[in-house]
Amino acid sequence: MEEYITKAKTLIESLPYIQRFAGKTVVIKYGGSAMIDDDLKLSVIKDIVLMKLVGLKPIIVHGGGKEISYWMSKLNKQSQFIDGFRVTDEETMEIAEMILSGKVNKSLVQLMFQQGMKAVGISGKDGATIKVNKKYINGKDIGFVGDIKTVNTELLNVLLESDFIPIVAPIGLDDNGDSYNINADDAAGAIASAMNAEKLVFLTDVEGVLLDPYDQRSLISEISVDKAEELIQDGVIAGGMIPKIKCCINSVKNNVTQVHILDGRVDHSLLLEIFTEKGIGTMMVK
Ligand SMILES: Nc1ncnc2c1ncn2[C@@H]1O[C@H](COP(=O)(O)OP(=O)(O)OP(=O)(O)O)[C@@H](O)[C@H]1O
Ligand SMILES: [Mg+2]
Repeated sequence: MEEYITKAKTLIESLPYIQRFAGKTVVIKYGGSAMIDDDLKLSVIKDIVLMKLVGLKPIIVHGGGKEISYWMSKLNKQSQFIDGFRVTDEETMEIAEMILSGKVNKSLVQLMFQQGMKAVGISGKDGATIKVNKKYINGKDIGFVGDIKTVNTELLNVLLESDFIPIVAPIGLDDNGDSYNINADDAAGAIASAMNAEKLVFLTDVEGVLLDPYDQRSLISEISVDKAEELIQDGVIAGGMIPKIKCCINSVKNNVTQVHILDGRVDHSLLLEIFTEKGIGTMMVK
């Protein structure tokens, strides 16, 4: 009996959070190795199912960098990165689209289905949701990598209104209709801003922003825009964390109320963040 009362109390404790977030859009960027382990994947999906059932409107934007690199090496192609962005020639673009829009996207839709949820997997191409310009890094051409120009929220709104969970692969079109690979963090950030999301959460394969990448105790739990910019300058924030932090900065500047970087390897980190007082990972503040 005691055990059941404790369970009921736990449920009641989440009531204020459920009330606060009901009807609100939450964008979840899902990436890193948290997306490779099947048990963890299921645990993340279940968290999102629960969020949806208590009235939040989740939108998932996924990456798949590790999976793309794996298939690139199987096809004897080298992966090359500049500032965390994948250099994308025509063949790499083809592989990226097959992995992202095909394999990764549909596996998430399938997991949702197995949990009794209606999800629709799209890429930024569908409904012309994401339009891009070619991205240059310090003037350097890195191929078919897109800088997001516009997000058209029409299709996403239709899906949300009809109670579907949208799952978005980070691919967009330029004005000529060519396909571009987009960093998934960029896509999540732009979608969160365009949808006026209440929360933007990055689920990744690290505890959050670390002052020393080799020491997990150096986690920064709250980071300001100025501090984040300083850490990028100093090279403390590097690689795949750069686009993530830049998106956090843009998002808090664009009225997304709360932006978090969480460890997707921790069971139920999403639920902990949304439905409890306990702050985990790194939160960005204005
Ligand atoms: N200061 C830092 N603190 C934490 N992680 C850092 C830092 N600097 C660089 N990183 C790296 O950033 C990585 C996270 O970005 P990464 O792009 O690899 O994953 P992701 O964005 O979650 O996945 P995907 O790119 O597949 O969507 C970490 O695994 C870590 O190696
Ligand atoms: Mg990344």
